[in-house]
Amino acid sequence: CMVRHYKFNIVMKNATRLCSTKPIVTVNGKFPGPTLVAREDDTVLVKVVNHVKYNLSIHWHGIRQLRTGWADGPAYITQCPIQSGQSFVYNFTITGQRGTLWWHAHILWLRATVHGAVVILPKRGVPYPFPKPHKEAVVILSEWWKSDVEAVINEALKSGLVPNVSDAHTINGRPGPVLSCPSQRGYTLPVQAGKRYMLRLINAALNEELFFKIAGHQLTVVEVDATYVKPFKTETIVIAPGQTTNVILEADRHSGQYTVVASPFMDAPITVDNVTATATLHYSGTLGATATTTFAIPPPKNATPVAMNFTSALRSLNSKEYPAVVPLKIDRSLLFTISLGINPCSTCVNGHRILADINNVTFVMPTISLLQAHFFNISGVFKDDFPGNPPIPYNYTGTQPTNFQTNSGTRLYRLAYNSTVQLVLQDTGMITPENHPLHLHGFNFFEVGRGLGNFNAKKDPKNFNLVDPVERNTIGVPAGGWTAIRFRTDNPGVWFMHCHLEIHTTWGLKMAFVVDNGKGPNESLLPPPIDLPKC
Ligand code: C2O
Repeated sequence: CMVRHYKFNIVMKNATRLCSTKPIVTVNGKFPGPTLVAREDDTVLVKVVNHVKYNLSIHWHGIRQLRTGWADGPAYITQCPIQSGQSFVYNFTITGQRGTLWWHAHILWLRATVHGAVVILPKRGVPYPFPKPHKEAVVILSEWWKSDVEAVINEALKSGLVPNVSDAHTINGRPGPVLSCPSQRGYTLPVQAGKRYMLRLINAALNEELFFKIAGHQLTVVEVDATYVKPFKTETIVIAPGQTTNVILEADRHSGQYTVVASPFMDAPITVDNVTATATLHYSGTLGATATTTFAIPPPKNATPVAMNFTSALRSLNSKEYPAVVPLKIDRSLLFTISLGINPCSTCVNGHRILADINNVTFVMPTISLLQAHFFNISGVFKDDFPGNPPIPYNYTGTQPTNFQTNSGTRLYRLAYNSTVQLVLQDTGMITPENHPLHLHGFNFFEVGRGLGNFNAKKDPKNFNLVDPVERNTIGVPAGGWTAIRFRTDNPGVWFMHCHLEIHTTWGLKMAFVVDNGKGPNESLLPPPIDLPKC
């Protein structure tokens, strides 16, 4: 293994999309940002130098950060943000992981343009557990706003209303030709007939789950969130913000060009009308106006069965080399409800604002980092009294209580180091049922069960898959349903858990676990690096 050095200069750069130009925050002037390549067991040092007016931090989404929680990156959770003109070196070792992950800014809505891929190759000499691809390509799905993204969210917070949706989706930073800007070129993926390709898909969108499809070709799913799965063929990929999916594409046509689409999946009675992104796959020698084009038709926005089929096909590879070590005995069993709520607000347009909560707690961000408060025993920053169960049990999917009001606080849930946890995430359908991609920092977890309606603690566990459940770091909680996950708390520190729809996180759909071995944090966690930013 080796040490890999990267330098991320955070700089403004003008970018033109949808026939209009605006300055965006970037890493090294690139959008999407540079790909970080490493091998399993490598140590990675990324020096981030902040040259813009925003304070920011970078999160290495899905990297376990075993004992190196200081390098995890969420602002005010594990570090104070890197201030304008300052720098910080993220230093971590990639342990027991290989596949595709990604990095992104973890403050405000800056991840809209500050994101890129993390490619973790297997150890030298270790093959993939599937036939070797001829070539690999990173395919980042995202969104584009014509206006300034920070202005969009600030306006929504002031008014208490829902923010504008993006103006288009993007594939590797490009929306492709659209009605309002037909001259705009999309991303192109050249292939040779008879060859095999691996696409490393990442959903970096702020606020939308997506369908991904290539005309005329099936895709074989081989990995999600940097864990191998039992390969299966599909026409459509479903991918939530935060998730990654590796697929094999056999270039089994002879010629021509085939459109590639990324379109919204929204399992909620909400109208989204942002534009589907188009890219083009073309066989060598056939690109341009004269080539025959086969068009991909995206599923309708509310195609829940397509999404359900896809997610239920995901299974851990669970081979001798890559076993699924699912916790069977559970030390701590938790039930978290996930809701949107409405609180009074005298300065807001309608006299109230939309909020979100977990177990009725709208999380309030602290002003110094939680990990520092935990490590140095600074009192008054957080309480560790986060409720392990909903305060009032009710019928989550039936008639909703008239009182939508949430409580607020910086409350954490304490878990013993090296214990096993079962966590049921229940969508409540308050205001409206909606899919929520929940992301847990610091751990991978197994999804042992999912269902629609209310979780039944007596019946549902009997149907849990404890043999080969999919292992990941971000899970789509179905609209009006639940999902059950299990993990072992083998990583001391403070770990954020939140909805990866950025608007829901902003509204407070987030909390944190503090994982401590009982002997005090100093004995389990490495001390902070000397250049850790100050608040
Ligand atoms: Cu990908 Cu807390 O984030």
